[in-house]
Amino acid sequence: MKVFSGIQPTGEPHIGNYSGGFRQYAATQEQGEAYFCIVDLHAITVGHDPKELYDGTLDIGAMLFATGLDPERSTVFVQSHVTAHAEAAWLLGSVTSFGELRRMTQFKEKADQQEFVSAALFGYPTLMAGDILLYQTDIVPIGDDQRQHLELTRDVAERFNQRFGETFRIPDGVYPEAGARVMDLQEPTKKMSKSFGTEAGKVLLMDDADTIRRKVKRAVADSGREVRHDLDEKPGISNLIELMTVATGETIQEVEARFDGHGYGDFKEAVGEALVALLTPIQERYRELRSDPAELGRLLAIGADKAREASAPTLEAMYERMGFAQPS
Ligand code: TRP
Repeated sequence: MKVFSGIQPTGEPHIGNYSGGFRQYAATQEQGEAYFCIVDLHAITVGHDPKELYDGTLDIGAMLFATGLDPERSTVFVQSHVTAHAEAAWLLGSVTSFGELRRMTQFKEKADQQEFVSAALFGYPTLMAGDILLYQTDIVPIGDDQRQHLELTRDVAERFNQRFGETFRIPDGVYPEAGARVMDLQEPTKKMSKSFGTEAGKVLLMDDADTIRRKVKRAVADSGREVRHDLDEKPGISNLIELMTVATGETIQEVEARFDGHGYGDFKEAVGEALVALLTPIQERYRELRSDPAELGRLLAIGADKAREASAPTLEAMYERMGFAQPS
């Protein structure tokens, strides 16, 4: 079974990204042939800063390895290192209609926020379709906000297959369950997000130990004093319980039982310590890799080589079936 995930190289990753992203990636690599693509070509669809793109790409690369991806077992690579992605996007543009792209809600939302709406932003979904289809992907684990893009990918794949002959496998999206997400520490009814809320609401993966302890201590708690999971009555404490499960691997019930009879103060302190214990070794590996560009480059080159090899047959079939004259 082939699994493909695309990861944006923008913004500082937080514990919500770990819980719903990095942690799952490491689990996914055990289940099949997994591709993890740092989507730098997508990052230029809205105004971007070159230095931030450069650093963000290497930051995410180092974090993927630090959180447990194995460069031999998985294929971890940077999108722009494999030129097939840009090529596939262009070819798929011919079987994607203007009307389909114009209907994409994410395009409309992002376009509203830009002074300069690029043609690249409009074509974003064809680039994403190429990412997925080049690898004959079975499964795409993806956020709910990407559902429409995945549906478009399936439509475009079917259209291509019909017009030019069976070329692509039709991928399925896998969406996270509603409860499976970390909420903002200051507004626990909202998802922890790079683009929402204040610094105090997010535990960043690279926060130092004291900052983590302080943020958890100041997290919004609820009235009452029992450490009990109850999303309606106790969204703040429920979120901290879930963070504890992320840090220790315990179940919600195990956490509740362990803190039966303890107050919020004790509990928060323990959550802070558990997060520090989880993140400290990750941070150490991250720093090591990030300060060794040659080693990080070597690991990403392994992924790029594997991705080139894996995508080449599909790209070749696309060119051939569409009627491009092949040099012989
Ligand atoms: N658009 C995705 C997002 O914003 C990132 C992405 C790009 C992606 N290409 C992909 C995700 C292919 C899954 C598969 O999250």
